[in-house]
Amino acid sequence: MRNVTEDTLTKAVLDTISDDADPRFREIMTGLIKHLHEFAIETNLSKEEWLGAIEFLYQTGKKTTRNRNEFILLSDTLGLSSMVDMISSRGDDDATAVSVLGPFYIEGAPFIKNGGDLIKNNAGQPTLVKGCVTSTTGEPISNALLDVWQNAENGKYSNEDPDQDDDNLRARLNADDDGSYSFTTIRPSPYTVPEDGPAGVMLEAMGRHPWRPAHIHFKVSAEGYQDLITEIYPEDDEYIDADAVFGVRDSLAVEFKATTSEAEATRYGLKSPFLTVEYDFRLRPL
Ligand code: BEZ
Ligand code: FE
Repeated sequence: MRNVTEDTLTKAVLDTISDDADPRFREIMTGLIKHLHEFAIETNLSKEEWLGAIEFLYQTGKKTTRNRNEFILLSDTLGLSSMVDMISSRGDDDATAVSVLGPFYIEGAPFIKNGGDLIKNNAGQPTLVKGCVTSTTGEPISNALLDVWQNAENGKYSNEDPDQDDDNLRARLNADDDGSYSFTTIRPSPYTVPEDGPAGVMLEAMGRHPWRPAHIHFKVSAEGYQDLITEIYPEDDEYIDADAVFGVRDSLAVEFKATTSEAEATRYGLKSPFLTVEYDFRLRPL
C-alpha cells in the first residue's frame, strides 16, 4: 500500500474493509468511499475547499441540539431526505405518498375527539379537514390514529413561538370504525426553514430561497399497517412548485375549497363561509 496513486487509492481504501464487516455496512461504506473519491477528482477539489467543507460540517454539528438538528435540515435542503423517502416507498403507488417529517414534530400531542377543533384562539381562515383512512385496496381502516401538526397564521410552529401554547395547532384523534375522520383548523401559512445556521448560509450562497409552501403535517398509524408520515399542501400556494425541501408531490397538493354549507358550519361550530379540504389516506398493509 506504499505507492498509492490517484488511480490506486480508492481500491487501497476499499481493501481495508474487513471481510467480517456487516455486509450492508460494507456495501454502504464502499459506495460512500467510491463516490467521495470520484467527487474530489471530478471537481478537482482544492485543499482550501476541502478544509472549508470540514469547517462547514463542524459548524453544522455545533448548531445541532436535540431540538434543532442542522444535519437533518441540510439533508432536507439538499433533497436527500426526499430521495430516501422515495426510495423507501418504491412500488407503493397505491399508498398515500410520503413527505418530510421536518423538525417541528412533538410526540404526545393532546387527544381531541374525532370532529374536534384545533382553531381555539387562532387567527386565520377556518378550515374543515375531513376524509377517510383506508388500506391500499380501499377498505376503511377502523380506529386509525391521526397525529396532526401545523403552523399558525404568523408562519410559526408552537415550538418556535413563545406566544403560542406548546400544544397549539397539534392534536391526535382516532378515526371512526368506518375510517372517517374530521377536524377543524386554520389554513396553514407558507414559512421559511430555519436560516440562522450553516444550512441557511448554504442556501444563500447557492442563490436559493428558504420558503416552504403551506402544509398540514400528518402521521397516520393503524395496527397491521405501515406508519405514514406525510403533508398536504394547498394547491394554490405561491411556493407549491418551489419547496425549499422538495416535499411536494402532485397527489399531496389539494384544494382548500371555499364552502358555504350552513349544516356543516353548525355541525362544526364554524361561521360560513369557511374552507374545506377532503383527503383520504391510504395505508400499506405490513
Ligand atoms: C417542516 O415542514 O416543518 C420542515 C421540513 C423540513 C425542514 C424544515 C421544516
Ligand atoms: Fe412544516
